Amino acid sequence: MQNATIAGWGIGLPDKIVTNDDLSVTLDTNDAWISERTGIKERRIGGTTSQLAIEAGAMALERAGLAPEDVDVLVLATTTPDGVLPGTSATVQKGLGTGGGAFDVNAACSGFVYSLVVGNGLIASGAKNVLVIGSETLSRFTDWDDRTIAVLVGDGAGSVLLRATDSPGDLLAWDLGADGSLRHLLYCDHGGFMSMNGKEIFRHAVRVVVDSSVAALGRAGLTTADVDLFIPHQANLRIIQAAGQRLDIPEEKWVVTIDRYGNTSSASIPLAIADAASTGRLKPGDTVLFSGFGGGMTWASAVVRWNCES
Ligand code: ACO
Repeated sequence: MQNATIAGWGIGLPDKIVTNDDLSVTLDTNDAWISERTGIKERRIGGTTSQLAIEAGAMALERAGLAPEDVDVLVLATTTPDGVLPGTSATVQKGLGTGGGAFDVNAACSGFVYSLVVGNGLIASGAKNVLVIGSETLSRFTDWDDRTIAVLVGDGAGSVLLRATDSPGDLLAWDLGADGSLRHLLYCDHGGFMSMNGKEIFRHAVRVVVDSSVAALGRAGLTTADVDLFIPHQANLRIIQAAGQRLDIPEEKWVVTIDRYGNTSSASIPLAIADAASTGRLKPGDTVLFSGFGGGMTWASAVVRWNCES
């Protein structure tokens, strides 16, 4: 059976930067409230989910030194598709010119880690190259007059290219979970805007990130002391702090990008991966813990040995 290794990564971001001060012009809010309660200073807004995904996918292919037609399967994590039909992954397939199949995964903000696990399984069953992208335009499903949610969201995309290898695989262990009885905490019905119970999401998020991280690490035969870098979903800095402290992972090992991008749902972990890789914080041989949570509720953690040189 083949194993999977991460051979490249990429990002796609809208050019438009919206600061907290910009939001204060039209909303009854201010930079101090947003910064203190969330850690967000600015976010990128604009584009479509497919455009951003194409940008991120092209960069991962280039870094991996692959042509689009080398891709066997494209897995697009998104909870904000361009439309109901076709899957946004098909539009991304056309834009990139990838070979093989393409499908969407919707597990809300946990979607990237779910897709990473799915991509790993595809490689185990014969695929040579799987392009995994998380891309979101939450801004399109946001009521910009609702200050409780408008200050949180951002648009963007991130990706990794999984390649088959005969060496040990990068994915050491994973944990996926869902609890549909918590649907009412965060949802968006057809034609509507996102609705969220922020306090309850906060409470459950800390619990599931901690429990799921411990479960995934346990399956890898590791503890939090073995983690070199903690790359959590970026929904709120205070959630990252609470989870990081309970896991006893020191702050210098957390990757935080929420100040620049806000909550980009399934794009947040791959954007943070790119940030850590491009700044030299991610080094070959590092043990990395990804942990996400989101609407559903869903949650997902993965323990990865980083071997990517690009
Ligand atoms: N600016 C200024 N004041 C505000 C704002 C704002 N943007 N939003 C709310 N307030 C006010 C409230 O009205 C309230 O006022 P009151 O005390 O007079 O009633 C006060 O600030 C405190 O509000 P809380 O809701 O108690 O603030 P809290 O500390 O819980 O922070 C927040 C709210 C940031 C939403 C937090 O609960 C959170 O981050 N929760 C998790 C959200 C999350 O992770 N969502 C997941 C996915 S979200 C997505 O995908 C879009």
